[in-house]
Order: sequence, then structure tokens, then C-alpha cells
Amino acid sequence: MGVLARYRERLPVTEHTPMVDLREGSTPLVPSRNIGPALGLERLYFKYEGLNPTGSFKDRGMVVAVAKAMEEGARVLVCASTGNTSASAAAYAASQRLRAIVVVPDGKIALNKLAQALMYGAKVVQIKGNFDAALSTVRDLAEHYPVALVNSVNPYRLEGQKTAAFEIVEELGEAPDYLMLPVGNAGNITAYWKGFKEELAAGHSRQLPRMVGAQAEGAAPIVRGRPVEKPKTVASAIEIGNPASWEGATSARDESGGAIEAVSDTEILQAQIRLASSEGLFAEPASVAPLALLVRLVQEGRIQRDSTTVIVLTGSGLKDPEAALANVEPPIQLDGDARSLAKALKL
Ligand code: F0G
Repeated sequence: MGVLARYRERLPVTEHTPMVDLREGSTPLVPSRNIGPALGLERLYFKYEGLNPTGSFKDRGMVVAVAKAMEEGARVLVCASTGNTSASAAAYAASQRLRAIVVVPDGKIALNKLAQALMYGAKVVQIKGNFDAALSTVRDLAEHYPVALVNSVNPYRLEGQKTAAFEIVEELGEAPDYLMLPVGNAGNITAYWKGFKEELAAGHSRQLPRMVGAQAEGAAPIVRGRPVEKPKTVASAIEIGNPASWEGATSARDESGGAIEAVSDTEILQAQIRLASSEGLFAEPASVAPLALLVRLVQEGRIQRDSTTVIVLTGSGLKDPEAALANVEPPIQLDGDARSLAKALKL
């Protein structure tokens, strides 16, 4: 069952809303086997959003945005994207036979995200400049032409994305002490915070989590307190200099007593390998920024050992093989039999 059916009572679903559905949501909350114990944390979990149908958390919000756009009569969807939103918009458009136009910063999105958008049949437009320029272009387009904007400035996106908080509370029996996630355009941290507040109000949880966001050092406008003109990071998904939901992010941080901090590209790539090789979970660079931050918070004694922490792994590692492959040993080349294989492996 997809997000609209599972949470119909808690979403803006009317009798006229088409039940768009790619079986998104209901992703696993995987307990850490090795990193948590190594850091001395008793309860660390990964919310594995890479298992959504297009490989990222975007599907949760996209399904609601697309359904509402259709309800309002739209036939053309448009978005700007660092890659994942474009893949998601393109997939839902395909399933509903709508047109999708996706505008991406030229040369700055991971190869497999581009492959997805093209395979799902979207019209892909690469523009010079960064994500922020692409977003301002599509906002302008949507103001003047009959197209539905499905970026996270569309409130239906955040409605859908808040359901991940519902799932976490349902599984743990209450909200965690810390919810950690990457921050790019800042829609997701805004959506989770809304979701947790709704869970508290509904009596499903007795507490709210501290919201802890991670940005990349080269693209950390919220940490620095001012827009970054030329954002640059290996975590291309969050290479954003002027987040649209800036205020949502700082409210979540401040109301929850949380934090938003920056980690370096080196820390991100180390965290990516550590997660894959010690947990069997492969997440894209943006997704592991909060793990890099967690390592630092533990070192600084800022997280209690008996607390419950959930890290949101926002996108699959399969999205961006190039970023990952640059940091691992290449395969062994061999032309020979078992004996020479054994020798090469020092068995
Ligand atoms: N993680 C991944 C894998 C993402 O793709 C994004 C955003 C984020 C984290 C940050 O989420 O923007 O809500 O703060 N990707 C957008 C896109 C910008 O176009 O796919 P956010």
C-alpha cells in the first residue's frame, strides 16, 4: 500500500484525489549492527529511504503533489532538481501519463539520476548555473504558464514527506531522541518536524526529537547564516546555496533544541564507505552527511549513550556510483585458474 492509502486520514486526500501509487513509503528502520556499538551508542537506527520506488525519499512527497496536481486538472509537471526530485517526478508522471519537464544544473547531477529521468520519459533541460538558478527559473515558469510545480515549495510535497516521521514513531513506539538528516533545500527537515509534532498532538508519542541537520561544508548556507553563491560539494544532492525552506529548517532546529552543522567532503566519503562496509547499507553521499556529523557529536560527548538516534538515509548509493568508486580499491584483474586466484588473494 502506498502513502496515500496508508495515511489517507492524515493527508489532504478528498474523494476526488486520484490514488496515485507506486508503493512508496513503508521503508525499513534498520538497527545498526556495528557502527552504533563502535560509537558506544545503545540505539542507532537507519531509516532506509533508498528503498523507495525511485531510490529516494522524494517519492513520499511526490505522490501527494502529483495526485493533488491531477485533482486540480494539471497535465504538465515541472521541477528543478539536483537529481532525485527529477527522477521521482518523471516516474510518477510516467505512471499517470502526464508530461514532466525537469530542469537540472548542467553537469552537476549524478549519472544514474539523469538516466532515471530520461528512461521515465521526462523532458530534461540542463541549464548553466546551479540548483538555485534552476529553481528560480521553474518558479517563474509556473507563475506564468499552466504547469504544476512539484518542488518542495509545493506544500503537498511536505505533507507526503511527513509520513516518514509517522512510520518511525509507529515502529519505535515513540519519537527518537535525535532525528538526523541531510539538509539541502530544507524541505525534508521541515516535513519531519511537522510529522513529529502531529504525532505528539495525536498522542502517538510522548516526546519530540531533537532535529539535527547536516550540510556539506562547501554548501552550508544555514550553518553560516547567509546564502552561498557558488555551492560546491561531492554530495551533489545537497549542493544548494539558498534553500527555499530556510525558515522551516531553522524553526525545526530551534524549536526542537537541535542543531544544523557542516561536515567536510572527506568526512562524508569516509562515512559512506564505513556505512556500506560495516552495515551493508549503501547510501549516496548526501545521505551519509548526518552519519559523519554523528561521529563528531559522539566524539565531542554531545549525544548521550543511552539515547535513541535515527539517521535518515535519504537516497540509495546506486544513484551515484562515480562518487563512490573514486574511493575504493579497483577490482583485481586476473587471467588464470583457481591456483593463481588463490595466490592473488593470499589464501
Ligand atoms: N538527500 C538526498 C538524497 C536528496 O536528494 C536531497 C535533496 C536531500 C537529501 C535534501 O533534502 O532538499 O529536502 O533538504 N534533493 C533535491 C533534489 C534538492 O532536487 O533532488 P531537502
